[in-house]
Amino acid sequence: MKNRLFGVGRLFAFLFAFALLSFVSCRDYKTPLSRGIIRSNWGSVGGKIIYLFTLKNSSGSEVSISNYGSTITRWLTQDKQGLKSSIVLGFDSLSGYLSKPPYFGATIGRYGNRIAKGEFKIGERTYHLAKNNGPNSLHGGLRGFDKVVWDPSPINDSLPSLTLNYGSKDGEEGYPGNLLVSVTFTLTEENEFRIEYSAHSDQTTPVNLTNHSYFNLSGDPSRNILGERLWIDANYYTPVDSTLIPTGKIDPVKDTPFDFTKPEQIGARIGEVPGGYDHNFVLNRKDSLLQLVARLSDSVSGRFLEVYTTEPGLQFYSGNFLDGRIKTSEGKPIGQHAALCLETQHFPDSPNEPGFPSSLLNPGDAYHTVTVYKAALAK
Ligand code: GLA
Repeated sequence: MKNRLFGVGRLFAFLFAFALLSFVSCRDYKTPLSRGIIRSNWGSVGGKIIYLFTLKNSSGSEVSISNYGSTITRWLTQDKQGLKSSIVLGFDSLSGYLSKPPYFGATIGRYGNRIAKGEFKIGERTYHLAKNNGPNSLHGGLRGFDKVVWDPSPINDSLPSLTLNYGSKDGEEGYPGNLLVSVTFTLTEENEFRIEYSAHSDQTTPVNLTNHSYFNLSGDPSRNILGERLWIDANYYTPVDSTLIPTGKIDPVKDTPFDFTKPEQIGARIGEVPGGYDHNFVLNRKDSLLQLVARLSDSVSGRFLEVYTTEPGLQFYSGNFLDGRIKTSEGKPIGQHAALCLETQHFPDSPNEPGFPSSLLNPGDAYHTVTVYKAALAK
């Protein structure tokens, strides 16, 4: 009898332990971290855990970010009929990102955009980078910040906010200096998605951090973005050579297909731009305060997106190299112009262009830039 009771007791103890374990692992699978943030396990890379963090506000917006590449994977907003869909391209699982899509939603560094011939000089010394884009270096090299695992900071904020950190070693991808980088993502009740970049280095190095989200305000990548309208607060742009390196000139947009000083349909003059838009716009600004610099709108969904930044430039890329080979998580091909990027940045190839605003960070100085994407509905 005693033995039977002991056996029953053991069974209960086992069931209790099992229930507790399942509860704990369930919680670990989708853990509410603080107000408006949920964390899910998304797999692992090189023995490091990959998470998906979802920031939610009470206005119906939701942004998901992975610490793999510090990548925005989804931004759900409502259209004018109240239907929710994502206004950025992204995948439902880590495998999509491991197959190296062209920087979908990723944080780009150490140097966003191109550096001519993968070379630059600081003082007398020449630094050599990988040439991963024809003769040039693009978006930080072979293993830029979009392909590394970032460490999340503990979260204790009252707003849904997440900080991801990365330590880039001296010599990584050919760049000088140990660089400590933090990116803080915050979603406000006004559907502003704020990205704040900070960095410090122990040697002088070029730094140009940006985000490579591909927007399609319709929420449907099978509808291209050529019918969406764009305004950019830029009277000038930096023309490029055939390898997309700025020629060094700063040309007026007036009377060219680059004139978005009034809202213009993206497809209206794209045929006059060989290859499509992939250009840096010189933002009209007097200081480096956070300023409204661009607005994208889509009359079908009723959505619009405003871009605010402290940066001097904006790369408008009209998704020219998307060619249908990459598919959405639902299996739909992502074709040319399925989405566009509005990458706030210092100008491409600044390390080789003394006439452009400097992108050099010196030891002891703080790199700090802010970009806000605000999603809204037309009234
Ligand atoms: C950037 C570049 C483009 C292209 C995309 C990724 O935005 O300016 O030329 O390389 O990244 O495909």
